[in-house]
Amino acid sequence: MAQTDSLASVLASKVVGQPNVIEALVPCVEMFQAGLSPDNRPVGVYLLLGPTGTGKTRTVEALAEALHGSSKSMLKIDCGEYQMEHEVAKLIGAPPGYLGHRETQPALTQQKLTAVTTEKCGLSLVLFDEIEKAAPSMSRIMLGLLDRGILKLGDNTAVSFEKTIIFMTSNLGAREMMRELTPTVGFQSAMAVEPDDAVGKLERVAMSAVKRKFSPEFVNRIDHVLTYQPLDAASLSAIVDHEVTRLQRHIVERLGSRAFSVDVPYAVRQWLMEKGTSVEYGARELKRTVHRFLTQPLGTMVARGEVPPACCVLVGIQKDKAALALGVAKAGMPRGCSQPTLLLVDGNGELARFIERMMAAEGWDVVVAATASEARRMAAKRKPHGVMMDAELPDGRGVNLAVQLGESMPGTRSVVMTEEALPLEENMACARLGVAVLQKPFLVKEALGVIRAQLGRRSLGRMDAPLKVA
Ligand SMILES: Nc1ncnc2c1ncn2[C@@H]1O[C@H](COP(=O)(O)OP(=O)(O)O)[C@@H](O)[C@H]1O
Ligand SMILES: [Mg+2]
Repeated sequence: MAQTDSLASVLASKVVGQPNVIEALVPCVEMFQAGLSPDNRPVGVYLLLGPTGTGKTRTVEALAEALHGSSKSMLKIDCGEYQMEHEVAKLIGAPPGYLGHRETQPALTQQKLTAVTTEKCGLSLVLFDEIEKAAPSMSRIMLGLLDRGILKLGDNTAVSFEKTIIFMTSNLGAREMMRELTPTVGFQSAMAVEPDDAVGKLERVAMSAVKRKFSPEFVNRIDHVLTYQPLDAASLSAIVDHEVTRLQRHIVERLGSRAFSVDVPYAVRQWLMEKGTSVEYGARELKRTVHRFLTQPLGTMVARGEVPPACCVLVGIQKDKAALALGVAKAGMPRGCSQPTLLLVDGNGELARFIERMMAAEGWDVVVAATASEARRMAAKRKPHGVMMDAELPDGRGVNLAVQLGESMPGTRSVVMTEEALPLEENMACARLGVAVLQKPFLVKEALGVIRAQLGRRSLGRMDAPLKVA
């Protein structure tokens, strides 16, 4: 049991936001590992449907990584290369005596199936990618293979697929699926539909597109039709996190003693996410976006000798928001090297906006919450270095929030802003916990001084504008 649990969790870490896919896949592998797969047919036949860039191809790569240790340990047939009838013959090779018989190695041979297995696992993964692109004769050739697990080659030898899972991916119906989900266009609004009705609806839409394209015999031989959902913001953000972690691991593995750390704050991750995703391509461009805007510029810095060993490269966003800004972090920033994050909790939008502007100009990453409960949620997610809160919040007292945050995240420094003198017990709590109190109206200069003292030793720059804020 432990082994399949770990297969499911390994897959879930590589293919995010598609739990029903993993749920349908694991038992099939389990059956094979238990030696209980049926005879005379493939171990499983899966049709993976859904919009572009939702993880269909990635699923098979991830399974190959989990079972064989490499995403390349699978036999992939790019169906786009078999669009013409005569090209389909390359799959099985020409019969003896035909022109080109000796030159054409069939794409599907027993040897090739064995080559993608490992000592650890004898299961071959075969992927017919983007099957809708292949000429119709491809599905005819595949009928016997799906049904009996046998493929007759041109030279009349037979290839057994009994120890094979067959995957076919397609974006058939994807456009209709997206239309179902988005009455108005937009990747984000795709998430507006209740997920529960969405799943069933998408499956029906996708299946009807499949039935229009393929013969009933073909459709009947598919064990599982899995429908991929458009990825929601949380999944996309998990993919970015994953890519950033991979980059960091790569740096450590490749550079050894010359390795350094890369600090990619939340705002930068969001920027990458927005830049790398679209309705049309899903998350397909995400990896490339990370590569282009982060990995490549980092490589240039390393090549130029600008990155000393064991330092920290800080990533920010350029002013025009067109690219990322990379720099070696200087000492003296709060908690190591991160672009510090300030959580501002205030019901008064105007003051919040003012402080936000001021701190952002000083290089802080500022996030704003309007209520205490929102602040708790954001703090859990963003782990801010500092929190500035109004004493009087719509849903509670600022000091209580400061106490809670201080307990749940030791090391977070808080500043409470108040109009009136605080009640004695609040004052005492602040003194005990080292929470600074800022009496309104305060001068910007004064506020900056307190923030600087409280939140970090980072220089807050010139602050000679004695602007009064109420
Ligand atoms: N669900 C997902 N989980 C993790 N990464 C994903 C997911 N969907 C897409 N990606 C990212 O996008 C890339 C392209 O996804 P892919 O599986 O090729 O899309 P398609 O559904 O069109 O086959 C992947 O290599 C991966 O970086
Ligand atoms: Mg694909």
